[in-house]
Amino acid sequence: MLAIHPSSANPRIADLIARRRPGWSLEQPFYTDGDVFAADLERVFRRNWLFAGHANRIPQAGDYFLHDFAGDSLIFIRGDDGEVRGLFNMCRHRGSHICLELAGQTRKLVCPYHQWVYEKDGSLAAAPGMPPDLDRGEFGLFPVATRVVAGMIFICFAKEPPDFTGIGEAIHGHLKPYELGRAKICHTRTYQVRANWKLMEENFRECYHCPVGHPEYCRVAMPQGESPEEIAAYRVAQHERWARSGLSLLDIGFTAENGFHCARYPMRPGFVTESLDGQPVAPLLGRLSEPDAGILAIVMFPNFWFEASADYACSMRRTPLSPTLCEVEATWLVHPDAVEGQDYDVERVTAFWRITGEQDWTLCENNQAGVNSSRYVPGPYAPAERGPETFVRWYLRALAGEHEREPASAR
Ligand code: FES
Ligand SMILES: [Fe+2]
Repeated sequence: MLAIHPSSANPRIADLIARRRPGWSLEQPFYTDGDVFAADLERVFRRNWLFAGHANRIPQAGDYFLHDFAGDSLIFIRGDDGEVRGLFNMCRHRGSHICLELAGQTRKLVCPYHQWVYEKDGSLAAAPGMPPDLDRGEFGLFPVATRVVAGMIFICFAKEPPDFTGIGEAIHGHLKPYELGRAKICHTRTYQVRANWKLMEENFRECYHCPVGHPEYCRVAMPQGESPEEIAAYRVAQHERWARSGLSLLDIGFTAENGFHCARYPMRPGFVTESLDGQPVAPLLGRLSEPDAGILAIVMFPNFWFEASADYACSMRRTPLSPTLCEVEATWLVHPDAVEGQDYDVERVTAFWRITGEQDWTLCENNQAGVNSSRYVPGPYAPAERGPETFVRWYLRALAGEHEREPASAR
């Protein structure tokens, strides 16, 4: 049983956490209740690192895009120094949104209400009509903690964010040869899935549903008649080959404490990339020299999922919108010099994860619809569902405030 941190103020939620039956799915309020949802946002999302998007969207100084999270609008803008900063889209005069377009290019950030002017780094440049003794240094836009790794922007709303060093190094080490910071955004697709964000994470953490739910995925990534011995030998051979090529084999498994996973593993023998036929769909990324770099998987609770083959990468950013609605933004990346229609076809690059993802959204929506039932009660996880169990344990610890009581180095 989890000890509840004193700051877990809501006794009903504390009771729900305390009586959770290990190895079983969660009780209904975790997937439907407004108070639990508010606590999820406050204690789980706002206190951990989140994936916000790709810096490749804003290659030039002054390029920006917005990302909304639970009532906060954030501006991600590239400065004259080349750095990407995350700023609250909230004027320090009387609070107006400053940027109104979802993305754009600007020399300065000018509030549309009374025209206060901010630099790209968020500092206040001008406040027309205000007394000359206004201390402009006091009125810069509020920043959100931001780290950019391999061209991916991670943010944390917490005043004292958890240590990101280990995760940042793991992602950097794996993705260095892919040069994703320079990659080209091939396609972006946004989904609104009628399911609680945790049902979606549970779904992605198990493959119990894969044999029937994902025929396309299984054809490429799961054994289809190969013996366990053949699979094991192939895995060893591939690992040796990748080690010789200098590719990172760092393997970090999820625990209830770390909320992070990265690993490189092979597809089926003869299949080199996550495409419908397992064959390349785009030029090799970055400095990769062989078409089979396996599947590189990187996942960070609560909202980041990423997989890369040698020829393209796909990320998914999950943003909870209500207890029963979650947005997913999927982005596909290819080599910066790849020319659409010549070197790649968007349909072929995106098909594998578009089809697999959409199958999952349907499964999750069906799951939510049933969980909404007056007769829903938790059910037992299968042995193949250790992943969801680990996620749920991590989630409950975060919700109870356990992570905050541990020194950052232990996580
Ligand atoms: S609210 Fe922005 S200038 Fe007044
Ligand atoms: Fe799935």
